[in-house]
Amino acid sequence: MTNDGTKPLTGKIAVVTGGGRGIGRAIAERLARMGATTIVCGRSQETLDAAAQAITSAGGQCEAVVCDVGRLSSVEALAARVDKTFGRTDILVNNAGVGDFSRALHQLAPDDWDRIVNTNLRGVFYTIRSFAPMMIKASHGDIINISSIASKNPLPNGAAYAASKWGLNGLSYSVAEELRRYDIRVSVVCPGSTQSELSPHPGKDSLKMLRPSDVAHVVAMLVTQAPQSFASEVVLRPTQKP
Ligand SMILES: NC(=O)c1ccc[n+]([C@@H]2O[C@H](COP(=O)([O-])OP(=O)(O)OC[C@H]3O[C@@H](n4cnc5c(N)ncnc54)[C@H](OP(=O)(O)O)[C@@H]3O)[C@@H](O)[C@H]2O)c1
Repeated sequence: MTNDGTKPLTGKIAVVTGGGRGIGRAIAERLARMGATTIVCGRSQETLDAAAQAITSAGGQCEAVVCDVGRLSSVEALAARVDKTFGRTDILVNNAGVGDFSRALHQLAPDDWDRIVNTNLRGVFYTIRSFAPMMIKASHGDIINISSIASKNPLPNGAAYAASKWGLNGLSYSVAEELRRYDIRVSVVCPGSTQSELSPHPGKDSLKMLRPSDVAHVVAMLVTQAPQSFASEVVLRPTQKP
């Protein structure tokens, strides 16, 4: 809802990956408050159900759908379900992400590399592959990829995560050029340290860190731009260094 009480996303369909907790949940709550029917996906049914129930109790419309973004069949099933039920997707937020911030790259197990890159980068390829055709058909849409400030800087003990996010930025800038002719905006949001379960952020003052609602606020701004306006990238920093 906006300050004047209007709901600018009424009638819109939004899909938020990793929408059950953390930043994704805050984004889902915000989009639902703005009137969008919001589909939250992730791997844990219980977490998704809790998020959907809270959003619905607050007067929003939300569905929980289990989906592993690292598995193409799972993402394709989600897109088919959304297409069958709603016939459209107006907003896709690629938020699902994992990391390992505990060891140098030479100590990282190959399975951990696969888990991180398959979720953070391949997963976004899979969702765009599955959802973009719906948006192209409608000649309209917003795809928002939640990257990280780690896509701009070195991240010792988080090299696989940083690599996945640097890759995500390259993917985002390129797909933005592919899809803008269809009036589809592909943007990337790069938040700094944010309070969530992703990382303990050792040595940082959590009170100075961003909150998930701060990232949700940026998403809300991106999806309410005028049609001729396209903010392609937002770097979001805590005001004071945590
Ligand atoms: N926290 C930060 O400081 C920070 C800073 C910059 C950017 N980010 C980015 O923000 C995004 C959200 O992170 P967060 O901080 O909110 O972390 P979080 O609390 O750990 O949430 C991660 C979400 O991703 C979902 N997820 C993980 N693997 C998945 C998969 N294979 N398929 C579908 N969903 C999956 C999780 O649900 P399930 O486990 O149930 O699948 C969970 O809902 C990530 O992309 C992260 O890289 C975070």
